[in-house]
Amino acid sequence: MLVFVPPHPLIKHWVSVLRNEQTPCPIFKNAMAELGRLLIYEAARDWLPTITGEIQSPLGVASVEFIDPREPIMVVPILRAGLALAEHASSILPAMKTYHLGISRDEETLQPTVYLNKLPDKFPENSRVFVVDPMLATGGTVVTALNLIKDRGVGSKQIKLISAVACPPALQKLSENFPGLHVYTGTIDPTLNDKGFIIPGLGDAGDRSFG
Ligand code: PRP
Repeated sequence: MLVFVPPHPLIKHWVSVLRNEQTPCPIFKNAMAELGRLLIYEAARDWLPTITGEIQSPLGVASVEFIDPREPIMVVPILRAGLALAEHASSILPAMKTYHLGISRDEETLQPTVYLNKLPDKFPENSRVFVVDPMLATGGTVVTALNLIKDRGVGSKQIKLISAVACPPALQKLSENFPGLHVYTGTIDPTLNDKGFIIPGLGDAGDRSFG
C-alpha cells in the first residue's frame, strides 16, 4: 500500500481551515469540498485512461488526448461526511458515476453499520474507483466499505482512497487488508482519543459539514 500526502500549499491551507474550531459550518463544508477537489486531482494524475488522435483546429491539425469515455470511472462517497469531500469530483472526472454508501460508527462500540448501499451487484471490468471518506480513524468504516467494493469484483489496485485526515490505526488495518491500495490524504495525525476521535484532527466531520 502507498500513502500520499501531496505537498501542495492549497492542500495545507484547506486542512488548516478545517482544523480551526472557529470555522463555521458552511465554510467548513466548502473547505472540505475544495480539499477533495485537489486530492482527487492528484490521485487522478497518471491514472485516468486516455485516447489519442488528431483533430482539426482553426489553423491546422493537432495531436490530441482526451479522457476515454468508454472506461468506467466511479466515485463512492461514504455518507455523510464523504459527500462534502466528493462534492467537486464531477468537475475533475468526466463521465463518472456515483454510488453512495451510508455507514455510521456506533459512538460507544466504534463498530460500523451499513445503513445505505447503492453499489452495483458487480462493477464493470476495468473500473477505476475513488472511495471518499474524510476521516480514517480506527479504520472500521473504510475497511467495511472496501470489502463491499471488493466483493463486487474490484481489486485493491483499482481503488484510490481519498481522505482529509488519516490516523495510523486505520492505515495499519488498510495495509494488512488491501496491499495494492493507494491512499491520498490531506494529512496524517498521530493518535486517537478514547472515543475514537483523531487527535488533533478536525472534530466530527459529518456534524461540522452538515450541522
Ligand atoms: C465518521 C467518519 C468516518 C468514520 C471514521 O463517520 O466520517 O466515516 O467515522 O471512523 P472509523 O475509521 O473509526 O470507522 P460517522 O460514523 O461519524 O458518520 P457521519 O459521516 O455521518 O458523521
